[in-house]
Amino acid sequence: MVTGEEDIRVGIQAMKHGASDYLLKPMQLDVLSLSVERALAVKRMELELESYRQSLEEAIEGRTHQLEAAMRRIEMTYDETLEALGAALDLRDTETAGHSKRVCRYCLEMATAMSRPKDELKHIMRGSYLHDIGKIGIPDAILLKEGKLTSEEMTIMQSHVRIGYDLVSRIAFLAPAAAIVLTHQEKWDGTGYPQGLVGDEIPMGARIFTIADTLDAMTSDRPYRKALTFSVAREEIIRFAGKQFDPEIVNLFCSLPEERWETIRLDLKLPRLGEGLARPSHPSVSPRVIRPVRRGESRAATN
Ligand SMILES: [Fe+2]
Repeated sequence: MVTGEEDIRVGIQAMKHGASDYLLKPMQLDVLSLSVERALAVKRMELELESYRQSLEEAIEGRTHQLEAAMRRIEMTYDETLEALGAALDLRDTETAGHSKRVCRYCLEMATAMSRPKDELKHIMRGSYLHDIGKIGIPDAILLKEGKLTSEEMTIMQSHVRIGYDLVSRIAFLAPAAAIVLTHQEKWDGTGYPQGLVGDEIPMGARIFTIADTLDAMTSDRPYRKALTFSVAREEIIRFAGKQFDPEIVNLFCSLPEERWETIRLDLKLPRLGEGLARPSHPSVSPRVIRPVRRGESRAATN
């Protein structure tokens, strides 16, 4: 800015509007030349900074893509590891082959409909899939025994929740799912094991799990009976709301279309987490009124 006005306020105004310098008339060539050189130096620095910023942004974007791809690969490896663990258990306990996968899918269905956070969905899926992993530590003579278990054998059998918890809680990416493994045999009214937790004391994932577990146990063939229909299983689950199951989750379970469970049952493939999470949530349906279980009524079948 070159001016005849010798007023500091004019100078300040000019700089505020982007002038790099403020020169007074009459013009002196050497002063002007110096000023222009300074202005050019500043401009060059600005351009360099801008190009550095751009290349930095590109580098960060590239690295972010690489990191995301690596995370996806790790997640896939996690899920493959889980499938291998589950398959190892299925090899020993063939009666329940496919049970873990179906229970996992049923849990995901309910937890998604409950709008649980994505991270929790992941842990619920993993915990429900591995719920019986502790049975790996139960002797064949007990695990595969056809007759009724003695009380000692029952105690050993029940230790599968602790064995499973000890196994899973030591693996960092599975640690948050370990709570479900430990508490998957707890019941809403406190009559479950190993701690006899009551109501909300039982982790949400385990409360969802018990419904999914019963649903699958009842709709699967057993040596002593044929698979029951989903309608029968549903009625049984409703009967034990408030006793074995969290009544609110039973309400939610009943609000979901029955055909959905049959579709899941037919599709045995365990979804990769991304696939499962990407599915749209359900339209809400008004919940049914739940009749609490009466004294003396037998429990719903569980696995
Ligand atoms: Fe179990």
